[in-house]
Amino acid sequence: MRIYDLINKKKHGNELSREEIDYMVKDFTNGSIPDYQMSAMLMAIYFKGMNESETLFLTEAMAKSGEMLDLSSVSGVKVDKHSTGGVGDKTSLALAPMVAACGIKVAKMSGRGLGHTGGTIDKLESFPGFSTDITAEDFKKNLNDIGIALMGQTNELAPADKKLYALRDVTATVDQMSLIASSIMSKKLASGADAIVLDVKTGSGAFMKEEADAVALAKEMTLIGNSAGRKTVALVTDMDQPLGYAVGNVLEVIEAIETLKGNGPYDFTALCVALGTQMLIAGGLFSDQTEAEQRIRQTISDGSALKKLADFITAQGGDADYVYHPEKLIKAKIIEPVLSPAKGFIEKIICDEVGHCSLILGGGRATKESVIDLAVGIILTQKVGDEVREGDIIAYLHGNDTEKIAEAKERLLNAYKISLSPPKTSCLIKKII
Ligand code: URA
Repeated sequence: MRIYDLINKKKHGNELSREEIDYMVKDFTNGSIPDYQMSAMLMAIYFKGMNESETLFLTEAMAKSGEMLDLSSVSGVKVDKHSTGGVGDKTSLALAPMVAACGIKVAKMSGRGLGHTGGTIDKLESFPGFSTDITAEDFKKNLNDIGIALMGQTNELAPADKKLYALRDVTATVDQMSLIASSIMSKKLASGADAIVLDVKTGSGAFMKEEADAVALAKEMTLIGNSAGRKTVALVTDMDQPLGYAVGNVLEVIEAIETLKGNGPYDFTALCVALGTQMLIAGGLFSDQTEAEQRIRQTISDGSALKKLADFITAQGGDADYVYHPEKLIKAKIIEPVLSPAKGFIEKIICDEVGHCSLILGGGRATKESVIDLAVGIILTQKVGDEVREGDIIAYLHGNDTEKIAEAKERLLNAYKISLSPPKTSCLIKKII
């Protein structure tokens, strides 16, 4: 087989077979196919697309390019959840304990934040001592013992995707639906869970700005997951304003803890309940939606989810006292209010811009090597649709540097649009696929 022939075939819009895709992924990963030929292939895929079978073959080939985590020694159904990312998205912190408290095993491989979106690992490292640097054996032991385990993505997980993604990044071929779907799903398949619940975000703070694109991506990913033998469900959810009120690592951890105590923001709680309901159904615990929803809500009212979070933090080396006393978590030195410049209704909060404010304050990574300040971030006090008077506080900036606070404040004010009539608010859960 020659990669030249395969590029030519795809250039003319013809279908690649499983054998051809396996060869291409294997030889690209081991360095036999050079970047310039793979770049040409990516561009051919970009223009000619891939059908469902090709996308599945590519996903499976990338998943098998490295270690496939074998969770068969862990009893029960293992469910994973993946979000396409957004601003203030601390869902895993609250959702994983809620689901595990119902008896479903939550096996997660997470990443760190890059750019203006945060990463679950960074947030969890707000708990002194907490580590995701655990062996596969400890991962399985924790899953068996307490029902949740979280590991950082290792270099052995889908290495073909890692190499291919780096090439897509520099050849303007990231935004191709089959390439995105296969990239995300290859890592999910390699992570070993039996069932996968996907949270595909749409709106100004999401990768997929248009709902139709998010729906198409959700359909493509569920098809891949189900065809690969993993029960896969996707929720298409709103990311047109930050989720909840808190943006920034420690601030988000505190909001997640408050949610597990029943004091969470309406939208964030509703999203956790919706995703949790689907995870219980995907895990085979319920077939009835109402019963699953009641059970997941019960984990908040009976305190079992909060206790599960404490057990999880302890199992991974962290100090669980901070779960019960989040006021002990590190704090920023300066808290600066941001005042509404006008009277009216909040029509828009440009989500990406709020994320960038957190980045300016030091809460996000500009490059992979950046060191982040876990304490900084933003607490919104108003959401889209709320009425404000001129001079009302619309947010608080938590920072450690006055210059960065001034810069973030100017940027945050520009993220708001205030109008005289109440805006149409968008619904949180747009579709379940
Ligand atoms: N996230 C991924 O892991 N891969 C993509 O292609 C896009 C987002």
